[in-house]
Formats: sequence, structure tokens, C-alpha cells
Amino acid sequence: CGIVGFIGNKKDAKEVVLSGLTKLEYRGYDSAGISLFNSKFRSFDIYKDFGRVQKLIDLTKNTLKSNIGIGHTRWATHGKVTKENAHPHYSQSKRFIIVHNGVIENNEELKSQYLSDSFFYSETDTEVIAQLIETFTKQLNVENAILTTLKLLEGSYALLVIDTQTPDTIYAAKNKSPLVLGKGDDGITIASDLMALLGYADQYIALADHTFVVAESDSVKLYNLNHELQPLIYLEIDLDESSTDMGEYQHYMIKEIYEQPSVVRRIVQNYFNHDKINISADILKDIKASDRIYILAAGTSMHAGYVGKYLFEELTHIPAEVHIASEFAYHTPLLTAKPFFLMISQSGETADLRACLLKTQKLNYKTLTITNVKTSTLARESNYFLELFAGPEIAVASTKAYVAQVAVLSILCNTLSDQNIDLIKELTKVALSIENFLATQDISSLVHDKITKRNCFYIGRTIDYYTSLEAALKLKEISYIQTEGFAAGELKHGTIALIEEGTPVIALISSKEISKNTRSNLNEVISRGATTMIISLANTSQESDDIILKDVHPLLTPMVMVVPTQLIAYYAALERGNDIDKPRNLAKSVTVE
Ligand code: G6P
Repeated sequence: CGIVGFIGNKKDAKEVVLSGLTKLEYRGYDSAGISLFNSKFRSFDIYKDFGRVQKLIDLTKNTLKSNIGIGHTRWATHGKVTKENAHPHYSQSKRFIIVHNGVIENNEELKSQYLSDSFFYSETDTEVIAQLIETFTKQLNVENAILTTLKLLEGSYALLVIDTQTPDTIYAAKNKSPLVLGKGDDGITIASDLMALLGYADQYIALADHTFVVAESDSVKLYNLNHELQPLIYLEIDLDESSTDMGEYQHYMIKEIYEQPSVVRRIVQNYFNHDKINISADILKDIKASDRIYILAAGTSMHAGYVGKYLFEELTHIPAEVHIASEFAYHTPLLTAKPFFLMISQSGETADLRACLLKTQKLNYKTLTITNVKTSTLARESNYFLELFAGPEIAVASTKAYVAQVAVLSILCNTLSDQNIDLIKELTKVALSIENFLATQDISSLVHDKITKRNCFYIGRTIDYYTSLEAALKLKEISYIQTEGFAAGELKHGTIALIEEGTPVIALISSKEISKNTRSNLNEVISRGATTMIISLANTSQESDDIILKDVHPLLTPMVMVVPTQLIAYYAALERGNDIDKPRNLAKSVTVE
């Protein structure tokens, strides 16, 4: 979910909040809502519904100018996707209005302990917060009522609260879920991420956990939960708004796919400074001193992590393991004597990873985060971070960030290795190979002819197996075709039972070493009726292969092999009329565990 609040005298709060919500929609788009001050009736109105921010924009077309507003875009956790469950929420008497990102884990306990007589308008855990604040105002002033409430909450929250009796103040609080406060000429904006501040603030503070904020149009007070004032330390915002435009493309996803060659080149420019590599000596020293790398990530980033494991083991000879972040946080495997933790995250905000970070910090281990967002929570809180330089990734399905992750991992591993691959040359070849493919091959009709069923398989061996996992995830995410990525040799041990007449099976073949065996696995499924497709690299291709890519260094093949699979997903989703940039049920940045 994403939240945005604005208080200021010049601008209309509606404009700032709706612009912010539009930029935060990648965090969830089940429902959207806003509360604005109505100067005619001197009260607050709430507009909300299930559906997109665009619906909210239409709903609020005729509102009066307001100096204050809070808004929310939802990715449902507690309660169905309905108008009632959309934020903002009221307290019982409607004195308090609240938007919330996060999950209150002791919601039921709080309800039965403090609110057994209360009436609830929705099924959300958020309403409990509003009700608690209202209950405590019977004995306490508002600030203390909010602080008392915050101390009772277990779980994660980024909160904005309005007290309708003082329509010139926004209260905000944060624990685990991200929240940034921006200051500009027009007023104060508080939001889930920096993107939402663009155009309305020049400076920002990334709020720390257990912070409580009292914001008026021209003053900000920052407290800890003991109500002690904290210093305000602002940083300059240096994000470029133009990079979030869709340009000539029909969707962000296709724009981001086409950006991949320039992303790879940008990474080369940023990491190689003549013969020097821009990775701090401390990172290299700590990794060299470790006896095992634990790679933690989720989703697409985890698939890049698998390639990372391969690169670490091939190039540095340090054993590496990949762990699903949400599993690692609760069941830590037996660790070696000198572990090193590597977190990979496009957004740098994934709550499952943040939970891992808190755990590794508690155990006193060092962490490195590889992320696209240098101002993100994980970038700030890890010991070290390396930037992806992919530029904002807006489509929910990740493409260029994956390629960037593999590129940065290759530079890191190569720097630690004595093999000294000429990565400036090899990564440039990668950029050229992707560019050549995108410029010369139109695969839309191939997709139309072959991807015709409700399910699909990708198969590959060794490093191609890792690419097939990412390829399968991409197709699932946006076309809703049930797809599995399989080790080519493993398919016959059970899963082959699913192959029927016409079931698509796509093979990834990037090296001579595995070509013969993967091709014979394809023959096994052809004999059982499968419709097959082959994506190969030139050195190992056969004339009949469907997609042939220019050769690149054997350790860098995932960066090029993944590109046709991104397009397969794109065209399959396009043909089905799906919302490509905002696929159903997903969110780009999942800030709840
Ligand atoms: C969400 C997104 C995925 C993404 C995953 C990890 O589930 O829908 O596309 O791969 O989070 O995100 P991160 O920002 O940590 O890479």
C-alpha cells in the first residue's frame, strides 16, 4: 500500500495527494481513497472506492480547494477489496480519520481488550488504530492518545492521522513500513516513498522506526515514542521526474524491456572508472574474509540471486546459498563460522527482507544490499549497498532490474576473482546482443501460435535453469498462464505427466555443454504432444531454433536469454487483454511480511 498526506497553504491538497497516489500505485491498486477538508461545511469529506486511482480522480472532480488531505492506495491484507475496506477510515464518532500501510498483528487482542463496546465500519486492522486513539482521548490530549496507541501496536505501520477538530495538523507515525517527509515552498508532504514527493518538495527526511510526527503547513515536530523532540535533518532530493514518463511506449513494461541495453551500459559507466572499480574495499575485504555467502531475496530478485550463487561459486570459489527472504526471517539455517549476507531487492523496501536484515543485525553480521533505490530502507540500513542504476522501474513485473542485478553481481564476483574477465568488453557485448535481438526479431506471432494453453513450461539446465525460473515467473505474473520453470532433466521425473496435446514447453539453451541433453528432453515432451519453442545462443543454435541470440560470455547468458522470455510474457498478456503494468493481485513493492 502507499500513503500520501499534504498540508500547506498555496497548493490544493487534492492535487498533491492524487499526484502522489498515482506515483505510488505500483505499491497496490485494489482500492484508493482520500480525505479532504471541505471549507464550506468546515468538515472533512472522504472519497473512496475499490479500483484504481483514476476512479478516485473522477470521484473528486468537483471538490473545493483544501489545505490538507490524506490518501491511500491499497493492496489488501485484512478484509476484502470493497469500498468499506478502502482507506481512509474513521474512528467511531468520526473525529479521527486515518490511512495506514502495514499490518497490525495484535489487532484482535487490542479489539477485545480495549474496544469490546466499539462499533466498526470495516473489517480492517486500521480501524482499530483510529478507535484506540479516540478511546484514549477521553483521558489524554491528542498527541498523548496517539502515542499511547502506538506503544500498543505490534506489527508494521506507516500512518497518517487527522483530528477533525484541528484541521491544520497531520499526525504521522512509522514502524517498519517506510515513510518519508518532504518540505517544499508549498508545504509539507508525507508519503510512503520519495517518488510521491516529486514536484512538491526539495528536501526530505526518511523517518526512522518509532517516530511520531506533528506537521503543520509551516512547522514540523519530530518525536520518539517517549514524546522527546528529535532533530530534523533534511537531505536534498535528487530524483529525476522525467525518467518516470512512458514516452512513446504503450506500457512501462515494454519501455523498460527496451531500456535494458542502456541500463547495462550505465552500469559499466558507473562501476568502471578507467581501470578502477567502484566497489568499496571494505565490501571486498568482508566478502573475502567470509566462508559462505547467504543471498536473501524475494521474487525476481531471488532469481537474480540464483545466478549470483552461480557467479560466486564459479568466480570466487566461495560457496553461496540462496534463501527465500520470508523463510529465512523465521527459520534461519545453520550458519557457517563466517557468513556474509547479501540482500537483493529492486525496491529496497520488501518487508520480508527488512525482517531478515533486523535478524542479521541482531546477530551482529554484516550485510550488503544490492538495490535500485539508493534512498530505500535497505540501502540505508545495511552496512553496505551497491546501486543498480536501472532508473525507476514502474511496471510491476520486473525486467530491467533483473538484468541490472545480474550485471552488478557479475562485476562484484569478477572483482573478487582472479579470473579477471574483461567485463567492460563482455557487458558491452551483452548490451549489443540484447539490442540486436530487440531490433531484429518480432516474436508476437510466435507467441500467438504457440502460447495457447492455460499452462506452460520453461526448461533449462545449469545457468539456463535459473533463467527459466525467472522466465516462468514473468509469464505467470502478467498473462496468468500457470507456468513452471524446470531443470530440463528433472521434468521427466513426475511433472511430465502434465504434458498434453499442445502444452507449450520452451527450452533455453545457452551453451554447447547442455545443448544435446536439453534437446533430447524436448523430444521427450514432443513425443507426448507438446508444442515446443527453442531460445538459443548462436554458438549452440540449430537452424530450426525459434529465437537465436548473439553470443555473450557464458557466465552472462541470463542477461540476454531472459529478454525473449520477457517479450513472450508481454505479448501473451497483451493478447489476453490484461493490464500489463498492473497485473491483478500483485504489488511492486510489498511492504508487509
Ligand atoms: C513483489 C513484486 C515482484 C518482486 C518482489 C521482490 O512481490 O511483485 O515483482 O520481484 O516483490 O521485490 P524487490 O523490490 O525486493 O526486488
